[in-house]
Amino acid sequence: FGIYLDGLSGTRPELPMTYAELARRAERVMSEQVWSYVEGGAGSEGTQRGNVAAFDRWGLVPRMLAGAAERDLSVELFGARLPTPLLLAPVGVIGICAEDGHGDLATARAAAATGVPMIASTLTQDPMEDVAAQLGATPGWFQLYPPNDRELTESFVRRAEKAGFSAIVVTLDTLTLGWRPRDLAIASFPQLRGLCLANYFTDPVFRARLAAPPEEDPQAAAGLWAMLFGNQRLSWDDLPWLRSLTSLPLLLKGVCHPDDARRAVDAGVDGIYCSNHGGRQADGGLPALDCLPGVADAVGAHVPVIFDSGVRSGVHVLKALALGASAVAVGRPYAYGLAVGGQAGIEHVLRCLLAEADLTMAIDGYPRIADLGRDALRPVAR
Ligand code: FNR
Repeated sequence: FGIYLDGLSGTRPELPMTYAELARRAERVMSEQVWSYVEGGAGSEGTQRGNVAAFDRWGLVPRMLAGAAERDLSVELFGARLPTPLLLAPVGVIGICAEDGHGDLATARAAAATGVPMIASTLTQDPMEDVAAQLGATPGWFQLYPPNDRELTESFVRRAEKAGFSAIVVTLDTLTLGWRPRDLAIASFPQLRGLCLANYFTDPVFRARLAAPPEEDPQAAAGLWAMLFGNQRLSWDDLPWLRSLTSLPLLLKGVCHPDDARRAVDAGVDGIYCSNHGGRQADGGLPALDCLPGVADAVGAHVPVIFDSGVRSGVHVLKALALGASAVAVGRPYAYGLAVGGQAGIEHVLRCLLAEADLTMAIDGYPRIADLGRDALRPVAR
């Protein structure tokens, strides 16, 4: 009740309490280019809107006298007990949302402070080793965009292992960038340049491919990066090779079809990450939430399913868990938290999501995450 008592005494929270207000404030502090890049989605942004709207088609069924005075939000993933079911989705180029440009370091510190694991993008502004060093006791996973160069891919995975990341997430839906009219309308995007290539520029394999080091000829280095980013020919035939690169848990991100999920697990993948990239890649798609139950059913209870795309509240987190997710990630919400409040802004966003989830579990009578099964939800009558 503390927050209400503070309200009575005239104290207003400095940071926004709703996603809508958070996004409004972020838009105000970001340049037009940065706002367009982070907020924008593919095409008409129909997939993106559908992602969020899909949550309203489900309603939680409250249960009374369920012994929910104390809640346990912890989940187990790949042998580790995490304090909450929340994850920080990989957001490349997040440096553009931070005042000092070091958005990845701020995110890692927020992860360390909250215990919410960070999935570090391939496209970080600071090298992955520096990001991992900020994580403290909180686990970090490394998200891999497999470059069009096997040796470089292997080098990224080796470095991620050595830096202490505890899982590898291979993103499959970004072999090329989507059709994003907001970005296309903006002729030049100086903020993006050079802000996300640290993992490349510091990589020994990448450097060996260059005539001059990136510090001397950044133009040529960026040109090589552009040639190597995104292996459009990646196929199921490459999966045994990807699997062979690491003994860490391996997840595939962007999987929305049950057959793809099953095939991945058959090929030795440890976890499925059901996502449509927050609607940034392809328009005209199904809401990611609609894909989740099919994916979860296809792989069975023993294979973790991570979910993201459209999660804006603690209640959304609970609904995704009830529809089969083992843990739930957010992207834009924490990017906006970073923009409006730095590291503290990210922590605020995570704490709001978790507080709402926790209170809803108390009121609706679901004391543990495992209690949130399909029975906890009903489709909302139209
Ligand atoms: C992303 N996302 C993303 N995914 C990934 O695998 N690697 C990446 O580098 C990025 N980069 C990235 C940048 C920005 C600005 C955004 C907003 C998103 C996708 C991200 O991991 C996640 O799938 C979505 O953000 C989830 O949707 P919401 O929470 O933004 O609706």
